[in-house]
Amino acid sequence: MIIRVSDLHKSFGDNEVLKGIDCEVEPQEVVCVIGPRGSGKSTFLRCLNMLEEITSGEVVIDGKSLTDKNTKINDVRTEIGMVFQQFNLFPHMSVLENISLAPRKVRGLSEQAVRERGLKLLDKVGLGEKAEAYPAQLSGGQQ
Ligand SMILES: Nc1ncnc2c1ncn2[C@@H]1O[C@H](COP(=O)(O)OP(=O)(O)OP(=O)(O)O)[C@@H](O)[C@H]1O
Ligand SMILES: [Mg+2]
Repeated sequence: MIIRVSDLHKSFGDNEVLKGIDCEVEPQEVVCVIGPRGSGKSTFLRCLNMLEEITSGEVVIDGKSLTDKNTKINDVRTEIGMVFQQFNLFPHMSVLENISLAPRKVRGLSEQAVRERGLKLLDKVGLGEKAEAYPAQLSGGQQ
């Protein structure tokens, strides 16, 4: 099991958004979280890498408990990818620079390795010719 969530509670003031969530995800499994606006989907995902402080309960990612004081949360975060609702692209960086930043800064990969992988991934999604474009030059879907 890659993710195990037990009795997760999260409140903002007296607004209890997550009321005891239990969930297990196996490697390779694809899970969709579905629900009305404001029901707590993003809050739940943010709790999975401690972008939100957990009110109570436990989250274990790949055997590491996020609430354990000995867990180095930034190490766990290097293995968790998240695409946000807003694109949060850096406007002064090209497409390739935007997608290269995290692998370089967080993973410490070389510029050469990151560039090759980035171009390959852009090609895969049909954006190879936009590598040097800036976010403002892209359509919403391309962003
Ligand atoms: N930082 C915060 N401070 C206070 N309340 C918050 C905060 N973040 C979220 N909430 C509240 O928590 C509830 C759940 O919000 P959340 O963003 O998790 O919903 P969602 O299911 O992702 O909604 P949507 O489908 O609109 O993206 C909402 O009532 C929201 O107002
Ligand atoms: Mg949301």
